[in-house]
Amino acid sequence: MVKMTVRDVDPGGKKVLVRVDFNVPLQDGLVNDDTRIKASLPTIRYLLEKGAAVILASHLGRPKGRRDERYSLRPVVTTLAELLGREVAFAADCVGPEAQEQVAALRPGQVLLLENLRFHPEEEKNDEGFARQLATGAELYVNDAFGTAHRAHASTVGVTRFLPAAAGLLMEKELTVLGRLLVSPRTPFVAILGGAKVSDKIGVVENLLAKIATLVVGGGMANTMLAATGRSVGKSLREEGKEDLALAILNRARELGVAVLLPVDAVVAPALLATAPARTVPLQEVGDEDMILDIGPASRDRIARALKDAGTVFWNGPPGAFEVAPFAGGTMALARTVAGLSATTVVGGGDTVAAVRRAGVAGNITHISTGGGASLEFLEGRELPGVAALRDLTV
Ligand code: 3PG
Repeated sequence: MVKMTVRDVDPGGKKVLVRVDFNVPLQDGLVNDDTRIKASLPTIRYLLEKGAAVILASHLGRPKGRRDERYSLRPVVTTLAELLGREVAFAADCVGPEAQEQVAALRPGQVLLLENLRFHPEEEKNDEGFARQLATGAELYVNDAFGTAHRAHASTVGVTRFLPAAAGLLMEKELTVLGRLLVSPRTPFVAILGGAKVSDKIGVVENLLAKIATLVVGGGMANTMLAATGRSVGKSLREEGKEDLALAILNRARELGVAVLLPVDAVVAPALLATAPARTVPLQEVGDEDMILDIGPASRDRIARALKDAGTVFWNGPPGAFEVAPFAGGTMALARTVAGLSATTVVGGGDTVAAVRRAGVAGNITHISTGGGASLEFLEGRELPGVAALRDLTV
C-alpha cells in the first residue's frame, strides 16, 4: 500500500513532529559523520518552506532507558544549524513540562530538537502514555527515520495513534529505491553480502535468491560457507553450528541457477593486527593458524568480472577487515569496482557505507541507504512497523 507523504498533507502553519534518525557517531563531543543529518535536510527544509514549525525527535545509541550524557543529542544542534543555515533550539528532555513549553512557544520557520528519546524506557516499549506526551502540542507527524523504521517504538509507531502520520522525503526515497530492488530490478541483479554472520543475512538471501543472477559472498559469512563445504579456514571468524544453514543456502542457489562466488584466495595473518605478518594465499593453502582477513587479488578479479554487466547491484557487508590497513585492499577494490559500474548500485549497512566513503567513491553510488538493519529487514520482504503505521494514501 502506498503511504501518504509530506507532499500529500498541508503542513503550513502547523507544528510538525518529525521522527528523524540522528543516530550518528560522535567523537569528542562532536558529530563524526553527518550523513544521516544531511539525509534528513530535504524534509526539514520542505516543511519550513511550507510554513511549518519543526519539532525533531530521535534516538542516539542505546542508553538503555536512562539519561546518559554520552548519548545526548546536544552535539547535533551545531551540525544541524550549520547545515540548515538557521538556528536550532534544543529541549533538554523529549517530554515533560519544559519541552511542552518550548513546543508551545515554537513559531513557523523555527526548529526544535528534542533530547534523546531513549533516555526514557517507555520509548522502546512503545508505551501509549509516552507516545501521547510526544504528540502533545504537535498537529502532524512525519516519519523520516528510515533507519529506525524496523523498530516498533513509541516515536515510530505509538505516536501515529495521536497524529495524522505521513512519510518524509528520505523515507519515501529509501522505500522507492529499495522497493524497486524487490519488484523490478534492472537485470542481471547481483547481490554482494559480507559481514560476520550467515544467520544475520539468511532472511535477505532467502528473499533475494529468486531475483538475483549472482550472489557474491565475503567476510565471516563466506568462511562459514567454505567450512561447510569442507574447506579449511583455520582460525577465521565464522559462525559455528551454522554449517547446515550455509549448505542450505548453497543448495537453494544451485536449484535456482544462481551463481555463488566464494573467495578463491585470501589475505591471511595469525591475528587481526596491523603489525601481523600478512600473506596472500590460494584458498587451499590457508593454514590451521591462519585467519582469513581479506579476499585476495584472484577473488577481486573474479568478482569484478561477475559485476561487469550487472544491471543492479546491492552490497551489504565488507568482504574484509578493512579497518586494519593490511586487510583493506579487497574492500577498497570492491568499492571502486561497484562505483565504476553503469548498473544501479545500492549500498547499505554502516560498515559498507564507511568503506565506500573511505574509498572516496560514495558520489558514484546510485543510492547509499541510511538504514542498516532496516534495509536488511525491508529486503527480507518484511513490512517495517514504522512504515506500516503511516497513513495509506487514498486516491
Ligand atoms: C541504526 O543505526 O541502525 C538505527 O538508528 C537503529 O538503531 P538501533 O539498532 O539501536 O535500534
